[in-house]
Amino acid sequence: MYSDALIDHLRSADRVAVLTGAGISAESGIPTFRDPGGIWEKFEPQELANVEAFLENPELVQGWYRHRRQVVEDAEPNDGHRALVRLEQHVDLVTTITQNVDDLHNRAGSSEVVEFHGNITRNYCTDCEQDVDAARIDAAIEDGQPATCPECEGLVRPDVVWFGEMLPPDAMDRASEATTTCDVFLSVGTSTVVYPAARLPMLAKEAGAYVVEVNPDRTPISGNVDEYLAGPAGEVLPAILSSLDKAA
Ligand code: OAD
Repeated sequence: MYSDALIDHLRSADRVAVLTGAGISAESGIPTFRDPGGIWEKFEPQELANVEAFLENPELVQGWYRHRRQVVEDAEPNDGHRALVRLEQHVDLVTTITQNVDDLHNRAGSSEVVEFHGNITRNYCTDCEQDVDAARIDAAIEDGQPATCPECEGLVRPDVVWFGEMLPPDAMDRASEATTTCDVFLSVGTSTVVYPAARLPMLAKEAGAYVVEVNPDRTPISGNVDEYLAGPAGEVLPAILSSLDKAA
């Protein structure tokens, strides 16, 4: 499934960077975006994941994100998330750059997580920008009202990146640093079509990293990586970690 060379590269690596996408959380029961039955097959991004949609119909957008938040709160990290935590026993610095907003890398125990697209479990006021507790949103939605800030009555939104918005301020810097200084780069469970995250695997390769992709389906980068490992993250990553444990 994977080569001895990968195990050797990981054994000698000081730094590993991992880019994850919705596929790593699929085995936790969280739908991906672009697979059959995925989120963007059922919903139009334009109707829900942008600031105009939010201002036009805040209750609809708050309600949709509340539903997605409840799905992730009911989910548990899986063997793929846990394998990345175990990798920290073998490598000095493992940086996980995730496009996922589901908080599962943090809940699994990864130490260095770059949240490229935010985190759905956090919410903030669009006027005064203070954090607002999710329970306040739940109560407002159940009353049929848009959720507002307890301090200034501003509308409350999830702390996620919508289409047309900038990434969180330090996310690109931290991701670029990890990508260009790593010895091994793993791209796991992402269709690698949404920029700028999609640029990171080839940026790592140009900087000299050994680049590996884990995905049951091929993506635009599969032909250009050092190893393409076809399979689910929850099986492939634990298998790699078992080999690494044996080789230690
Ligand atoms: P996608 O839904 O585009 O892609 C999910 C990928 O996971 C696909 O390539 C699948 O083949 C793969 N996959 C499915 N099951 C898997 C498994 N068990 N193990 C490993 N891989 C598996 O999701 P992302 O690439 O994360 O952005 O999408 C990127 C961004 O597009 C998201 O962050 C979101 C979306 O619009 C925003 O909301 C800003």
